Amino acid sequence: TVPTMRSLRERRDALRDDIVTGNPAAVDRQHSLGKLTARERLGLLLDEDSFVEIDMYRRHRAHGLGLEERRPHTDGVVTGSGTIHGRRVFVYAQDFTIFGGSLGEAHALKIQKVMDLAVSTGNPFIGLIDSGGARIQEGVLSLNGYGGIFQRNVQASGVIPQISVVLGPCAGGAAYSTALADFTFMVRDTAQLYLTGPDVVEAVSGERVTHAELGGAQVHARRSGIATFVHDDEESCLEDVRYLVSMLPANNMEPPPRGPSRDASRDSRPRLAEIVPADPKQPYDIREVIAEIVDDGEFLELHEAWARNVVCALARVDGEVVGLVANQPMVLAGVLDVDASQKAARFVRFCDAFNIPLVTLVDVPGFLPGTGQEHAGVIRHGAKLLYAYCEATVPRIQVILRKAYGGAYIVMDSRSIGTDLSLAWPSNEIAVMGAEGAVNVVYRKELAAAGDPARRRAELIDTYRGELAHPYFSAERGLVDDVIDPADTRSAVARGLAMLRDKRGPVVRRKHGNVPL
Ligand code: COA
Repeated sequence: TVPTMRSLRERRDALRDDIVTGNPAAVDRQHSLGKLTARERLGLLLDEDSFVEIDMYRRHRAHGLGLEERRPHTDGVVTGSGTIHGRRVFVYAQDFTIFGGSLGEAHALKIQKVMDLAVSTGNPFIGLIDSGGARIQEGVLSLNGYGGIFQRNVQASGVIPQISVVLGPCAGGAAYSTALADFTFMVRDTAQLYLTGPDVVEAVSGERVTHAELGGAQVHARRSGIATFVHDDEESCLEDVRYLVSMLPANNMEPPPRGPSRDASRDSRPRLAEIVPADPKQPYDIREVIAEIVDDGEFLELHEAWARNVVCALARVDGEVVGLVANQPMVLAGVLDVDASQKAARFVRFCDAFNIPLVTLVDVPGFLPGTGQEHAGVIRHGAKLLYAYCEATVPRIQVILRKAYGGAYIVMDSRSIGTDLSLAWPSNEIAVMGAEGAVNVVYRKELAAAGDPARRRAELIDTYRGELAHPYFSAERGLVDDVIDPADTRSAVARGLAMLRDKRGPVVRRKHGNVPL
């Protein structure tokens, strides 16, 4: 018989019931582990009633190892599209209650289909991961499926924002969907992310390690730097995914969504001068400075627990989304090192790819010295940050707060590598090195011969500071565009952003100009 609309609806409802209540024991187990089901997660992530599911009927056609007896609809992944604060996104949510969320051929093709739709429509792509990895029974087809996803991750990189949310296991090759994404969220206690699990580790090296020690959220938040954000529970995690999406453009051809204007160009913040101690060696928390500069004191910090000597955050200034890169004097005196360079470089490249202006707050004593750093390739990693800034074509504003020495000054978005607007506080030192170090090098012989070396050193330090290491030296030479009152930092940044708003992207290559002939 020809299926009528009624039978279609019945069939659909029955199928949905079947999927949702399909395996109550597995759903109970999921809940008992503190985890939600795929559909519960999508309910929290997306605006109410906005989810449009596709490929609900899909099931695998695999044979062998008893698979032909078990052909559940969806094949263990829910895919489709919905909205977040009214803006479209494409999603997949792996369903651990079906084959442990493992990825076989059909499962992979469903994910690839929504990825293709996300790219062709120019909308963000979000994956909710909870999976035993490659489906063992489907062999190499599972691996082929992952390859197709990674290939798409890479092709979509810099075109649409990609977000991976790890809410359970994510093992083996699957793990690469996190590193390839722009942002990775993990939930404490339930997320596990590693290439080879504890059993394999023990078999290969004899090392005994728990899932959490090997690849828990803490490890990836503090040590490996793979987790961009870590949350205590799924609810707050998915809420923050929504917050992040609210600050991102849909794709690389669009600006990020503007918030309400705040009259920031006339906003005076006298507290700024109090937060930052005058002595360049005194620590303070740069996040307090950020809070004074951005709208409502609100910002989303990336990699809060990794490479803490540099802070990367998304926020709004006068409604406009900006990416902030700032040295953190509270941690390692705010030096740049291997990890900080990598963290900031990837962030700068993300912002540049997605039309997010960069605001760089500089208070940097230099790169971290020592064999540890040199042998770990600090030159190579520092060069990533340098490269990222040199290439960035979005509006770029540099604010030098207190000090900017040596190579680190150059790297932190200096005029020489293409910042559009450089602002400096009046008290700061911009120089090849700090005054004491400089005097020791330049006047070594004179100091050795001096009758009262301490007094002579103090005099020379004063001279050095007076002649070289002040912002007017740079301002007179055009390396600093303006010296500003610290209280005016927020307003000056807001005015700078407005001035640069129409900055054009990379110049389109031309064959030749049209010379008058
Ligand atoms: N392929 C096929 N089925 C898988 C699977 C995989 N990779 N991973 C899990 N499953 C299935 C299990 O067989 C089980 O099925 P059942 O309910 O029919 O018995 C179900 O998913 C749940 O798995 P279970 O092992 O009971 O859950 P757990 O919470 O105790 O452990 C893992 C979760 C992910 C740690 C564990 O399943 C595991 O180690 N899986 C293999 C991981 C792996 O090495 N994958 C290959 C990576 S490329």
